[in-house]
Amino acid sequence: MKRIVTRSGRPLRGELYLPGDKSISHRALIFNGMASGEAKVEGLLRAKDVEATADCLRALGVGIREDGDSVIVTGCGGRLTPPSEDLYCGNSGTTMRLMAGVLASQPFEAVLDGDKHLRERPMGRIMKPLSEMGASFQGREGGEVAPLLIRGGGLTAGEYRSPVASAQVKSALILATLGAGGGTLRFSEPHRSRDHTERMLAAMQIDLAWEDDVLVVPSAQVAQATDVCVPADISSAAFFLVAATITPGSDLVLRGVGVNPSRTGILDALDSMGADIAVINAREVSGEPIADLHVRASELSGTELSGGMIPRMIDEIPVLAVAASFARGVTKVSDAAELRVKESDRIATTVTGLKQMGVDAQESPDGLVVRGGAVTGGRVHAAGDHRIAMSFAVAGCAATGETVVEDAENVATSFPEFATCLEEAMNGS
Ligand code: S3P
Repeated sequence: MKRIVTRSGRPLRGELYLPGDKSISHRALIFNGMASGEAKVEGLLRAKDVEATADCLRALGVGIREDGDSVIVTGCGGRLTPPSEDLYCGNSGTTMRLMAGVLASQPFEAVLDGDKHLRERPMGRIMKPLSEMGASFQGREGGEVAPLLIRGGGLTAGEYRSPVASAQVKSALILATLGAGGGTLRFSEPHRSRDHTERMLAAMQIDLAWEDDVLVVPSAQVAQATDVCVPADISSAAFFLVAATITPGSDLVLRGVGVNPSRTGILDALDSMGADIAVINAREVSGEPIADLHVRASELSGTELSGGMIPRMIDEIPVLAVAASFARGVTKVSDAAELRVKESDRIATTVTGLKQMGVDAQESPDGLVVRGGAVTGGRVHAAGDHRIAMSFAVAGCAATGETVVEDAENVATSFPEFATCLEEAMNGS
């Protein structure tokens, strides 16, 4: 089992170019893979989750080949070929849910499977609406969990009110709608989830629009393959924003980070805690806002996070809880029950890890409460969850004693170079 060891005492300095955005990378492969024509993807995240998506698409007849640092995707024009084997999604919920949307529209049978963590995650949230559109599904535990057998084709799109704010649910339904024979998707959710799908598909000539809080997508559309330049992932940047904020003497610039407003909750949350982060050189690439983030160490105070803020920083809450441990006062996160069904139960794994590091932290059904104070370091188990592993490695940058994060091999799912980047920043001048 791979472990990460961190110790305090070295500020993070200099500048970093972090790897590509995971959400945008999956979408650049899937949407171009389903489109007509050929497109170049620059800055694609090279990590296990995105490789899983690429492997699934290749097994379905999509052309994906290396071209220097870029990748060329040759689309199937809306028609995939039946796979000869089960499609393996590894640890990646985005791969499984978006590919389920794609496969629901294809007139053949396919099986989606994943690792032991992914096999525990809820799939009813996509299977139910995709079944209502006309696809047929089987899964374990009444169709709730993978492996999933999908018999697609003959879909009709309609209205769907999602009970959860989820870009994966939204994207699965959009993909199924594009391959549906008739109808129009009218999709709504309790709070807006990340909108990379809408932005990228609009750039690919797909007709879709938000009418107030309803996303309207007509069926039977094939996208036009379009080059994508993937920005650095703000979810990966978050670890460095927090590490630099809590480590005295830090002064770090993160270049070319995606700052799509549906993802920048972490910037707003850290700002409300008193962090010193300047968003500079704002620009746009492939329809996505990007910027450089200049972060300096600073004192923090506690904050309260709830409501529409949560989907805007859903993957960053564990590392935000780490920041809260170093803050003056109490931080309270609520309306975040979705954290319980991520790569681990992140409310439980975050609170357990914080306690192991000497922090006063408590779970609530839909969130957590952290009282800032002494962070001693210690031995933490990441439960096979990449973001939990990286969050506690970050805590170790400013804890009083050594921090050992066990079970950290899944860092490779989203950010294989994490430890190298951290070391580089700690050696920076
Ligand atoms: C993602 C959406 C989010 C996020 C996940 C990536 C995506 O999940 O937590 O890491 O790329 O669409 P939900 O859609 O389940 O909220």
